[in-house]
Amino acid sequence: MPNDRILVVDDEETIREIVCTMLGGADFQTRQAASGTEALAILESDDDFDLVLSDLMMAEMDGITLLGRAKERYPDMPIVMLTAVLDIQVALQALRNGAYDYLPKPFEREQLLNTVRRALEHRRLKRENDAYRTKLEELVAARTQQWKTALSDLKRSYDMTLEALLGALDLKDAETEFHSRRVTAFTMAIAREMGLPKENIEVIARGALLHDIGKMAIPDAILHKPGKLTVDEMAIMKEHCYLGYKILSRIPFLADAAEIVYAHQEHYDGTGYPRGLKGEEIPLGARIFAIADTLDAMRSKRDYRDAQTIQAVRKEIETWSGRQFDPQIVKVFLEMPDNIWEDLRKDIHGQDPALPKV
Ligand SMILES: [Fe+2]
Ligand SMILES: [Fe+2]
Repeated sequence: MPNDRILVVDDEETIREIVCTMLGGADFQTRQAASGTEALAILESDDDFDLVLSDLMMAEMDGITLLGRAKERYPDMPIVMLTAVLDIQVALQALRNGAYDYLPKPFEREQLLNTVRRALEHRRLKRENDAYRTKLEELVAARTQQWKTALSDLKRSYDMTLEALLGALDLKDAETEFHSRRVTAFTMAIAREMGLPKENIEVIARGALLHDIGKMAIPDAILHKPGKLTVDEMAIMKEHCYLGYKILSRIPFLADAAEIVYAHQEHYDGTGYPRGLKGEEIPLGARIFAIADTLDAMRSKRDYRDAQTIQAVRKEIETWSGRQFDPQIVKVFLEMPDNIWEDLRKDIHGQDPALPKV
């Protein structure tokens, strides 16, 4: 492009003058240097050149040295070497060292202009390409950030949905909410001990947290009845598993957790409800939950009995291994230290001093 600035380096003044005249005639701006040292000094004080044309053989700092130094400082600036025909080996070395091209002396005006234009075009394309790549990288970074923000917004709204569901159940039956939170912590602790992947644990945790959500649809007279339930009332109470499943299975991010809710009262030997599922037909999360649920029930004080000791819980769970509980998970549970459960309980109840003492 005319008005591009070119630094012409040659120790012979006549050649510099000829070259600059040829370039000036094509509207290029030029500046002259009589040696490699002078050229470097000019570039140092004014680095706004688009191209360097340099002789190879010069007394004070030859073209190859200048090329090396200039490429170090200005890697994107094309350098074209002017050589005597005999210098062909040196010219090839210059190309290997990063010169864009070489022009054997003597050359015609058109040869010079063609080489210069090609070199400048090359520089322009390279710059465009670099700018495009930078822009692309910026775009990718911006999109990634947007995606991360959207994902964390989504996660937050998931959590808010869970809290809202649990809050709704709390209005109906406050005790259930605390029970749900404790059972979730116990279930997650066992699942972690089993080495389950984080994603599975998340699903299992949602299932545990919402396992009794179906109780929202159970009449208060049954839910809060002080005495023993009749057979009919018990049948209605047992519907909470399916009702919970129905509430959650329509919410896409809770669909897997809904399966755990549906199966949370099943027994390993098939004697549970509502479907009488057996062994591995019961989702793994529900099998883990069953142990956590018994642990919580036995460790909680009831109107008719005190909280039972952790030793009693261990004994009960061991006794029912292979019947109510999955023996593999019982094994994991029994190997876990007893203090975990009390610590988790305290953690949950420490969150809110208004929680009932259990
Ligand atoms: Fe429960
Ligand atoms: Fe339940």
